[in-house]
Amino acid sequence: MTSVRDLRLLAVEIAQEAGELARRRREEGVALAATKSSLADIVTEADREVEALIRARLVAERPGDGFLGEESGAEPGESGLTWVVDPIDGTVNYASGFPSYCVSIAVVEGEPEPELWTEVAGVVFAPALGELFTAERGGGSWLGEKRLQVSTPGAAGALLGTGFGYDPATHDGDLATVRRVMPVARDLRRIGAAALDLAYVAAGRLDGFFERGLKPWDVAAGSMLVREAGGAIAHPDPADVTRRMTVAGSPALVAELVGRIRGD
Ligand code: IPD
Repeated sequence: MTSVRDLRLLAVEIAQEAGELARRRREEGVALAATKSSLADIVTEADREVEALIRARLVAERPGDGFLGEESGAEPGESGLTWVVDPIDGTVNYASGFPSYCVSIAVVEGEPEPELWTEVAGVVFAPALGELFTAERGGGSWLGEKRLQVSTPGAAGALLGTGFGYDPATHDGDLATVRRVMPVARDLRRIGAAALDLAYVAAGRLDGFFERGLKPWDVAAGSMLVREAGGAIAHPDPADVTRRMTVAGSPALVAELVGRIRGD
C-alpha cells in the first residue's frame, strides 16, 4: 500500500525531471507541433515529449493507475487512482520566451472528473523560475520548505489573477466578467498559466483568481494547493460544462467574487 506521501514524492520527482526537459528544450528552441481549438491554442513538440516522459515514468512506477493528460488523453486504470497531467501549462508563454510556465501533476482518487474525484497529491513545478509547489491531502501546501497560506485582501482591494480562453468569440464575455469584479480589485494580473495562478493564490501572492473554460489538467494540482493552503475553489455555474468558471481565493473572497460574477 503506497502512502499519500510516497505519491507526492513520486509526483515531485517526475515533475522535476519533466520540468528540466522542458527547460532544456526551450533553450534549444521551440518547435510548434500543431494548433488545437483555435490558431492561438498551440502545442509544441516539447509539450508532447514532456507528456510522453511523464506517462512513461508513471507506467513504469504505477502500472495500475489511470492517466489523464492534456496532449495524449485518458486511459483508465484499475487501482482507483488517476494521474492528471499538464506537461507544460502556459504553452504560449513557453513558446514566446516568458518564464511563467510549469509542469502540473496531480494524483486523484475516484472518477477522473473534477466534481467527482478526491485530491490525493499535487505538484506545480516552474523550472525557469526555480519554484516547486507541493501539496498532499491533509498535509498543507508548500513552496519548497515554506508552508503556504492564502491571503486576505488589504484595504486597497484584492490583487486578482485571470485568464482569457483561446477562442476570440468568448473575449467580450470574459471582459464583461472583469468589469464586474474590478470594484473589489486593487489590480489584475494575467500570468498566462492557470496552474501557476492557482499556486500563487495558495502562496498569498494573488488574493484571488477567476477564469472560464479551464480544463481538468489546468486546475487539478493548483486547486489542491489552494484548498490545502486554507482557500476555497468554486464553480459558480455547474451547468456550463464546456466553459465552466473557476474561482479561487480565501473563502470570503470567493463568496464575494462568485456573487459579482453571477451579477447577484
Ligand atoms: C492554458 C493556460 C492559460 C489559460 C488557458 C489554458 P496551456 O493552458 O493555463 O493561462 O488562460 O485557458 O488553456 O494551453 O498553456 O496548457
